[in-house]
Amino acid sequence: MTSTANKRETTVIPDEGTSNVDPATRLYPPEYEGHLGSLLISHEEIDSRVQELAQCIHEDYKGTRPVMLCTLKGACPFYQHLLDALQDLKQGYTMEFLRASSYVGAATSGNVTLLGSELNKEDLENRHVILVEDIVDTGTTLANLLPLLQKFELKSLEVCTMLEKRLGDDKTPAAKAKYAGFSIPNKFVLGFGLDYNELYRDLKDIWVISQAGIDFDAKSLV
Ligand code: IMP
Repeated sequence: MTSTANKRETTVIPDEGTSNVDPATRLYPPEYEGHLGSLLISHEEIDSRVQELAQCIHEDYKGTRPVMLCTLKGACPFYQHLLDALQDLKQGYTMEFLRASSYVGAATSGNVTLLGSELNKEDLENRHVILVEDIVDTGTTLANLLPLLQKFELKSLEVCTMLEKRLGDDKTPAAKAKYAGFSIPNKFVLGFGLDYNELYRDLKDIWVISQAGIDFDAKSLV
């Protein structure tokens, strides 16, 4: 069972953003010019927050070897940084991957499917598992995924997400993460693994998409 009762504190990014970094200093492929609205979280801010998350995980899992379960593709860059920070803390772990799909463009479809999962019972049974996510928006994906994972008879299951969205209007997500890097405004964001129609995963920083980005024909790039 997940225990959100002891949810760790998150870093709140206000609606207007916080990054003091000049967007002009950021690196991104030239084909994205005009697609990036405002800079929400810089790579440096992500890096330092990842160290804090790793520290929290180490405090909670010291002496055990959690299974770090990465949700493909969006969580990959965050996962890689998190594992690196855990190594620096001498925290052992094993690695597993799953692929879930719930999103079409900028609107959630509400349908969650596990695609080509290679999860084996012997790798998960009686283990502490930390599911690593890119973003929790409505929480629908998580709420559908967690029961599927609990079938593997885990010792424990927690979620570590890079971002969680504030839904507004007193809406609460269908599921929450114990470890969350940043609480962000209810806007569609890109970069550091997060995509829009498979573009923008290759950005170092996290941005809010612009209207030109939404309108862009992703198939025009080869
Ligand atoms: P949820 O089921 O509404 O919580 O959505 C979770 C999934 O939707 C994430 O794993 C992402 O793939 C995707 N998603 C939600 N919000 C965003 C966003 O702002 N940018 C990119 N992908 C998003």
